[in-house]
Amino acid sequence: MDKFQAMEARQVAEVELRDQLDLASLPRHIAIIMDGNGRWAAQRGLPRIAGHKEGIRALQDVLEIGHELQIPYITLYAFSQENWKRPQSEIRLLMLLLQQYLTEERQRFQERGVRFLPIGRLDQLPSSVRSLVLEVAEETRHLTRRTLAVALSYGGRAEIVDAARKIAIEVQMGSLTPDQIDESLFEQYLSTWGLPDPDLLIRTSGEARISNFLPWQIAYTELYFTKTLWPDFRRCEALLALLDYQKRERRFGRISQTVSP
Ligand code: IPE
Ligand code: IPE
Ligand code: MG
Repeated sequence: MDKFQAMEARQVAEVELRDQLDLASLPRHIAIIMDGNGRWAAQRGLPRIAGHKEGIRALQDVLEIGHELQIPYITLYAFSQENWKRPQSEIRLLMLLLQQYLTEERQRFQERGVRFLPIGRLDQLPSSVRSLVLEVAEETRHLTRRTLAVALSYGGRAEIVDAARKIAIEVQMGSLTPDQIDESLFEQYLSTWGLPDPDLLIRTSGEARISNFLPWQIAYTELYFTKTLWPDFRRCEALLALLDYQKRERRFGRISQTVSP
């Protein structure tokens, strides 16, 4: 099969997958751990950064699907707190890619009504990256059609600890009493406040772990793990994940809807 035939076959497969989708029961919020860029590059004898670059193409494909299907919330794990332990050279290139991506996409966010919401310890980012991130967040703050949350220097446990600290300060100041602290109050102190919990979490690259991503928010999220490496996670793979999600029955602790009481 030549390149053109392969492309055509993929398009046919995509149309077939799209036809099976139930547009009435799509997830409202999809969280994605975009993993496997380094391995994708290594398999080709390329430097890791080549995998990160190709990963941006995969991201564009997936966000395009999100746009077409009007998924209101997408949250991406772009850089974890633990990722600071990587070699400086890789960190520098990742930051550069983030800057390039935001510079290229900021206009599209406006056109499509996408709010860009960075979450994580943004003060740890290099100052030029931080100011661009905050600028794009500010200029899209009023947009409400869709939200693209991007976790940068993010750690889920740190987020919970930060929330606890803010609450403790309020209790100390007397503006809050301990008995007022419940789950819905606690959530207001998380960086994802205002977003519904993710319905679907996708992790690529074959690892079946959460790596400190949204531990509070995913308590009842459907988890989808695939061996596909992130740069290869394209339109068909995204549709497969959505179809898999639609096969599941979300019970939230109740008994099956199909089983009579
Ligand atoms: C995910 O790909 C991207 C980031 C963590 C920024 P990796 O860089 O972790 O790729 P692998 O897991 O080493 O293949
Ligand atoms: C998770 O991937 C973080 C991102 C995708 C940004 P990692 O590659 O850092 O996670 P581990 O080290 O495999 O748990
Ligand atoms: Mg990885």
